[in-house]
Amino acid sequence: MWPDLIRKAKEGGLDAIETYVFWNAHEPLRRQYDFTGNLDLIRFLKTIQDEGLYSVLRIGPYVCAEWNYGGFPVWLHNQPGIEIRTANSVYMDEMQNFTTLIVDMVKQEKLFASQGGPIILAQIENEYGNVISSYGDAGKAYMNWCANMAESLDIGIPWIMCQENDAPQPIINTCNGWYCDQFTPNNENSPKMWTENWTGWFKSWGGKDPFRTAEDLAFAVARFFQNGGTFQNYYMYHGGTNFGRTAGGPYITTSYDYDAPLNEFGSLNQPKYGHLKELHGILHSIEKTITYGNISSIDFGNSVYATIYQLNDTSSCFFGNTNTTTDATVTYQGVDYQVPAWSVSILPDCKNVVYNTAKVNTQTSVMVKKINEAEDEPASLKWSWRPQVIDDTVVLGKGQVSASQLIDQKVTNDVSDYFWYMTSVNLDKDDPIWTDDMSLRVNGTGHVVHAFVNGEYLGSQWASYGIFNYVFEKKVKFNPGNNQLTLLSATIGLQNYGARFDLIDTGLPGPIEIIGKKGDESIIKDLSKHKWSYKVGLNGLDNELVYADKKFASQWQSENLPINKMMTWYKTTFKAPLGEDPVVVDMQGLGKGLAWVNGNSLGRYWPSFIAEDGCSTKPCDYRGSYDNSKCVKNCGQPTQRWYHVPRSFMKEDDNELVLFEEFGGNPSLVNFQTIRPGSVCGSAYENRDMELSCYGRVISDIKFASFGDSQGTCGSFEKGSCEATNDALSIIQNACVGKESCTVPATESVFGSTNCGKGVSKRLLVEAVC
Ligand code: GAL
Repeated sequence: MWPDLIRKAKEGGLDAIETYVFWNAHEPLRRQYDFTGNLDLIRFLKTIQDEGLYSVLRIGPYVCAEWNYGGFPVWLHNQPGIEIRTANSVYMDEMQNFTTLIVDMVKQEKLFASQGGPIILAQIENEYGNVISSYGDAGKAYMNWCANMAESLDIGIPWIMCQENDAPQPIINTCNGWYCDQFTPNNENSPKMWTENWTGWFKSWGGKDPFRTAEDLAFAVARFFQNGGTFQNYYMYHGGTNFGRTAGGPYITTSYDYDAPLNEFGSLNQPKYGHLKELHGILHSIEKTITYGNISSIDFGNSVYATIYQLNDTSSCFFGNTNTTTDATVTYQGVDYQVPAWSVSILPDCKNVVYNTAKVNTQTSVMVKKINEAEDEPASLKWSWRPQVIDDTVVLGKGQVSASQLIDQKVTNDVSDYFWYMTSVNLDKDDPIWTDDMSLRVNGTGHVVHAFVNGEYLGSQWASYGIFNYVFEKKVKFNPGNNQLTLLSATIGLQNYGARFDLIDTGLPGPIEIIGKKGDESIIKDLSKHKWSYKVGLNGLDNELVYADKKFASQWQSENLPINKMMTWYKTTFKAPLGEDPVVVDMQGLGKGLAWVNGNSLGRYWPSFIAEDGCSTKPCDYRGSYDNSKCVKNCGQPTQRWYHVPRSFMKEDDNELVLFEEFGGNPSLVNFQTIRPGSVCGSAYENRDMELSCYGRVISDIKFASFGDSQGTCGSFEKGSCEATNDALSIIQNACVGKESCTVPATESVFGSTNCGKGVSKRLLVEAVC
């Protein structure tokens, strides 16, 4: 997908592509590196270069990024004597080793701008300023060491540190956030730079879908450049998918769509993409003036102000209104200009408003899903299955290693989500704990535990949204004599953020106890120091069930397909959907697990986890500060129902989907769909062109058209109180139906005069079917 995404980014008016470098992906085992396939960093940078764009390389190597363990390889945690992200020689040696490796690779390919390459900035660490105080003097020493180490690598371009107010010279400290117009770098000679303009937000299991309006995002950008900003990067411009086990957490979803301008599937998220594209074009047109010009401003009070950039005899103006409710009139050089609340107008010549952040003149695309229409594709998929063989572990408690303590799941170097804890307990009827009311209690941070006693499933528990430790407690009937206790812990992305996040317990830190209740009295038997036997992973995964041509392939059966049976493998074949639209698989009906297409991991799925309540029924108002709780969607629905299947994972003929269903579910509803714009809504304020496109498909129908003061959102427009005299619907039908795209000027000469009063911003609104 890289060339297509990069091309779309360029068409969207970007100059540079910023990327992190993921240490755990490139050095999964100590000193064993992987830069193949999708991990080919140099190829990625060269693809950017080939498109004629710059690049910003954020090496970190701590990155955060909602990525597993913040990008640290988990073996790092298991290095003797290590303390991560502080002045500790074991850690610093490892960090220096990896950073140097990356810098050397890049240098060898002459990719730094100082060598004629595309990389103009490099980053060391990431937001260390947010946590530095919890590391005391050692934190300060570490930060200075990072700066010196980075400088010593001599790359000939500036190093940046984001969110690090103490960044020592010549490192440039930069800003991250939803707004950065008020940011000032710690050195007056440093440019004002914004490394992460959050275009939306990420999603967690149980969380809602974030939504940041195009108006507010454009406002944040325009405000930043109004206030002297020089460099601004979107985080994310394309967020994509956390395939495999890359999602961090805990509990970050597989989708990392982020409500970014290019959506998870690489399609344009309209109107965000287009509204920003227009803004980028205008900023580029005044680049010289706003970079080299003198800056002055006029304060009109009530959060309304004008900023004038002047270079020789050219000047460019920004009129900003940061008031959240009140529209303003700015009088400048004798002319009145309306500036809506929470918006910025840009006047490249200080006379004509060519852009206002609150006035969107770009189409909105409403994406729809279409069922797989590949030839011969049966209405529902045919499944075969096999159980996850767990007898050795569950019944016999046979592990690979043992210890007389509960061990943290990170000792496994995180090679699997799954880790078995097994022990046996001898209980005598004369034991003081022996009663009719006995239970097992497990304190976990896993984030899921499944408990088995004497080979029988007892129950499961998992962390709820936002609280990642839990207590599992359930009554058990033990046998007199020996009892086999087996606990399967499953992680859902390791912690990626916070001071000392690397030390947070993972798995079952305990205590694990048996409780016997007699009347008011509880007798507790702590098993935490018992001899525990441990096993990493699942047999099925070890046996590579996910690959079709492996030796276990014959053990699948098609009769008696189990439903809602935990620990079950399912397999089916499907034809790749025709065409080029992005493909998703609908996992409705399933519980939680992992999915693969032709051996490529689609990531973790968990459609049974319903997004929490808290969505507003009121329309989303772009005005006022955005945060990730504003304008959220998807309450009460599966947190993530659809999972991206990149076309590069599929072959032309038969493809194979394999599921490992951990919780139990019903695969009969699973199906493949494609995503495309179903309807598009054009919007253009008076004297602008209304442009509509079905992106290569034909506009088949016009459902709504109005030139006046109609309101609403795409799919539910309503006529307002004023309207042009000509029949807007038939004008648009004639101009657009049967075409892939059309352009119609939003003027009274086309639509006739209106009776809209003075001060009404007239707009052409159209809803078309693709
Ligand atoms: C920032 C961090 C990013 C990402 C972002 C939230 O603090 O630098 O890596 O985690 O927050 O999406």
